[in-house]
Amino acid sequence: MPLIGSVNAVTPGVCTEYARRLAETGINGLELNLYDVAADLDQTGEQVEQRLLETFESVRDAVDIPVAVKLSPYFASVGNIVKELDERGARGVVLFNRFIQPDIDIETEKLSLQMPMSSREEIRLPLRWVTLVYAKVGVDLCGTTGIQSAEDIIKFILGGATTVQTASHLYRNGIESISVLIQDLKKWMDEHGYSMIEDFRGKVSQLGLPGNARRFERAQYMKIIDSYTG
Ligand SMILES: Cc1cc2nc3c(=O)[nH]c(=O)nc-3n(C[C@H](O)[C@H](O)[C@H](O)COP(=O)(O)O)c2cc1C
Repeated sequence: MPLIGSVNAVTPGVCTEYARRLAETGINGLELNLYDVAADLDQTGEQVEQRLLETFESVRDAVDIPVAVKLSPYFASVGNIVKELDERGARGVVLFNRFIQPDIDIETEKLSLQMPMSSREEIRLPLRWVTLVYAKVGVDLCGTTGIQSAEDIIKFILGGATTVQTASHLYRNGIESISVLIQDLKKWMDEHGYSMIEDFRGKVSQLGLPGNARRFERAQYMKIIDSYTG
């Protein structure tokens, strides 16, 4: 089984050294988790994106194993960032990171920082973007956030994902629940006559509709609005 290391990063520099050291352990690939809440009011979106791309390039040049990038959804043009990373040699893009969202405790009147588990509804955002960029970029797509069952995994693959990641589900149900996910995935594939993942990957991506990404999004919007009229 291939082993993929993960390193958190915001800027080029120290993360490059960590990436190099991780690569020396013999891992097969590296995930660069660009966990960056752009909280500096003086920085433009363009500057944030530039820093992200420079951080990726510094890690890419420091190691000789494939590097994937885990992104947040907070970009004006997510698809463009994926394309830029693809053009710079990223081998995978993980959609999406899930930032810790601070809350306020009204009794203590302080910030409370927790890591709540995700819910199934959260797959919608990464699913939209996997579906939108699939087949427009060469880079492999990994779907993550909100996966609670094989059904969610199947949705990501139908949308175009090559791989998926899950954390909350494993925290809730234990590491052994991976085998249940795999069994349920195989059962669905048998029932639908698929012998390989490639048989159905991307089947429900925007390739299924004529026209461009904007038309795809518009079509989804119109269908949803129509479904409320009855
Ligand atoms: C308890 C917990 C610990 C996590 N620790 C890390 C971590 O150390 N590094 C990291 O990059 N992401 C970490 N994550 C984020 C997950 O990798 C993932 O991006 C996020 O939870 C969304 O996936 P999920 O919906 O399957 O939980 C953690 C998530 C949870 C719930």
